[in-house]
Amino acid sequence: MATEFQDILVERPLDHVGLIRLNRPQALNALRARLMEELVSALQSFDHDPAIGAIVITGNDKAFSAGADITEMADATVTDMLNRGMIERWRQLRAIRKPIIAAVSGHCLGGGCELALGCDMIVASETAKFGQPEINIGVIPGAGGTQRLTKVVGKSLAMEVVLNDRRLTAEEALRYGLASRVAPLENYLNEALTLASQIAARAPLGVQMGKEAINKSFEMGLTDGMAYEEKLFYILFASEDQKEGMRAFVEKRKPVWQGK
Ligand code: CAA
Repeated sequence: MATEFQDILVERPLDHVGLIRLNRPQALNALRARLMEELVSALQSFDHDPAIGAIVITGNDKAFSAGADITEMADATVTDMLNRGMIERWRQLRAIRKPIIAAVSGHCLGGGCELALGCDMIVASETAKFGQPEINIGVIPGAGGTQRLTKVVGKSLAMEVVLNDRRLTAEEALRYGLASRVAPLENYLNEALTLASQIAARAPLGVQMGKEAINKSFEMGLTDGMAYEEKLFYILFASEDQKEGMRAFVEKRKPVWQGK
């Protein structure tokens, strides 16, 4: 993995867990192009590394991220925006096969909220605030906010968030299913890392296919989605881990996963 990162910090705080810290505290972790490039690069490295089973993305206590970098976009033309590869980077984020947990504290706004929504789970600190304030600067979310948020919280609330900059507290995020957990400020990152470590200890192919199948449910109707899930279920019977998992159950011992 490249070590010359400037806008992120990359760590391995626990066995099989990769941690990426967004690291532009002076700009509340605004997602400038460089940061997004580094983030994609670090995620792809972890995705290709057999020693890593799950990934955590975090910011700092004050801000997960305040969104796309407004200074970078202020004078941009349509052509500039199209040529910057922004869509390509978000597509690359979606292609990561290993589970990603967003550990969110403080501001989680605009593209920052879309980044968290693009992760597979959100662990929020009690101080987390989620929002899509793009309307304040004359635009709308551009990286999935209107689509993903609506699917999670429903139309009416998504309308309030996108059209009227309603911010959601951590408790609301939990209630509406945006976050899977809320933890005290001093513990949210540990909670996310522990969750990542637990998932990383499970059957790797099962974890990846479970993620793929759940994400397909956002794109497919029920009949196609069920058929997709069934295929992945059968494919797992070609894996050694399926044999090991089921034999270990029958033999009343703990399975040893190989990711094969
Ligand atoms: N882009 C660039 N710089 C940003 C930024 C952003 N999105 N958000 C904050 N900053 C910078 C500020 O300009 C400021 O820099 P200086 O110290 O050099 O002036 C620094 O971060 C600290 O910010 P504030 O002084 O504003 O901090 P605050 O605590 O008073 O306010 C805030 C915090 C409410 C989050 C406020 O910074 C804010 O409203 N930020 C913009 C949020 C926003 O509109 N996000 C959407 C961006 S567009 C987008 O994301 C499009 C998309 O869908 C992909």
